[in-house]
Amino acid sequence: MATASRAAFHAQQQVRCFASASSSSSSSPNFPNPLNAPPSGVVSQSSASVQSGLAVGGLGLNSLVRPGGRQSVSGIVATVFGGSGFLGRYIVNNLGRIGSQVVTPYRGDGMNVRHLKLAGDLGQIVPIPFDMADLDSIRRCVAKSNVVINCIGSKVETSNYSYNDVHDKIPYRLAQVCKAMGVEHFIHVSAAGAHPKSPSAFFASKAAGEESVREFYPDATILRPTVVFGPMDRFLSYYAYVGGKLYGIPMTRKGQRKLQPVFVGDIARAVLNAIADPEARGRTYELGGPDVYTEAEIVELVKKHTFHPYLQPFYMNDTMARLYGKVIGGRRTLSHDRTGGLVAAGLNTAAMFANKLSLPTIYNPDMVDQAHVDLLTHANMPSLADLGVEVAMPLESQIDRVLFAHRYEQPDRFPEAQRMRADAQGNESH
Ligand SMILES: NC(=O)c1ccc[n+]([C@@H]2O[C@H](COP(=O)([O-])OP(=O)(O)OC[C@H]3O[C@@H](n4cnc5c(N)ncnc54)[C@H](OP(=O)(O)O)[C@@H]3O)[C@@H](O)[C@H]2O)c1
Repeated sequence: MATASRAAFHAQQQVRCFASASSSSSSSPNFPNPLNAPPSGVVSQSSASVQSGLAVGGLGLNSLVRPGGRQSVSGIVATVFGGSGFLGRYIVNNLGRIGSQVVTPYRGDGMNVRHLKLAGDLGQIVPIPFDMADLDSIRRCVAKSNVVINCIGSKVETSNYSYNDVHDKIPYRLAQVCKAMGVEHFIHVSAAGAHPKSPSAFFASKAAGEESVREFYPDATILRPTVVFGPMDRFLSYYAYVGGKLYGIPMTRKGQRKLQPVFVGDIARAVLNAIADPEARGRTYELGGPDVYTEAEIVELVKKHTFHPYLQPFYMNDTMARLYGKVIGGRRTLSHDRTGGLVAAGLNTAAMFANKLSLPTIYNPDMVDQAHVDLLTHANMPSLADLGVEVAMPLESQIDRVLFAHRYEQPDRFPEAQRMRADAQGNESH
């Protein structure tokens, strides 16, 4: 479809979607409060504050929800930035299931977000193309929304976007536009470990982004997940993928970094509850799971559940790891070298080849600094339980589901893999 006609099509979709919302809410204003009787159990572990529901909450929507799952009308009109990502798609799904209208802005190809349409009733999930540099396109995405959720983030820097661009400048711009457009509630997904003085550019940029959002929305809800697991994650799947491909997972601190993994479904439910809970306004939550593991223990678990005979950590000290990161994923560092003369020429030629082989998602120099931060929640910070998710999902109840696709493919060729699988089957049958 040509760009102009596609834009017209999207605009038409948008008008239909919002017109149906306003007409239905004005026709029967006295419907029972939706979240007192959740339609599909999405908000099942409801806290007292969530029970009070949207109508009483900050949105003041006089919501209209019938128990009918996606065919209900939750009264929520949300824009989810980063909906094409891992976490975003679960949030869109949870919103769609209770009958919300969700705008999912996308860059690039619309096919990347087409699957999200299935998360809600017909026409209720509305993908809209947008460009971060074009303020009007952002305005279009948030014009009808009463809540905006920002899930945009990146584990790697690219030549177009630094960590600071993605985690600070983008939230700043979004919050600024949303405020001007009168969006009531802004939910920002940051990360555990965010600190302005962090040696890691990733965590420092996350802290700067929180500040930027608070500048426009002092009552924004900020969520800091630790490290998130679930189908198609970038945590368990990372270890399985890298271990499987490289036969050595780059790791510092002898694998003693502590992690408190949290289930993606719990985060999505926390987001939904944060919309409904007026007490969530202005608070920063640290969201972690029930158990703490060292990184080495996680690798052992991944090995056990993928039956991969050669999956193991590849321990390095910081200097070695930084060098390794530069070689394997240091595209920006190498190509920006300005040491001058022959050295620069040599390094830049090396950069040209390195760019071809660059795998920053596997390892990059900032990961060395990130590894010095244990990803844990703090007892003095509001947590998942404060957002109504009292029983968080343990990692070991989901790990098989997550790693199923990464199981070792040719166990018959390797007796060690055969033995591991037989052991696992033996344990299951007892
Ligand atoms: N997953 C975790 O373990 C974890 C832990 C703590 C915090 N978080 C935070 O949670 C948020 C969501 O994480 P995730 O795992 O869902 O990440 P993800 O799967 O990498 O998704 C990131 C999303 O951000 C979008 N995005 C990235 N750079 C962009 C740019 N320059 N302009 C516009 N859009 C851009 C991506 O769009 P495209 O599809 O177009 O690339 C994608 O929709 C992030 O802020 C992340 O830092 C995640």
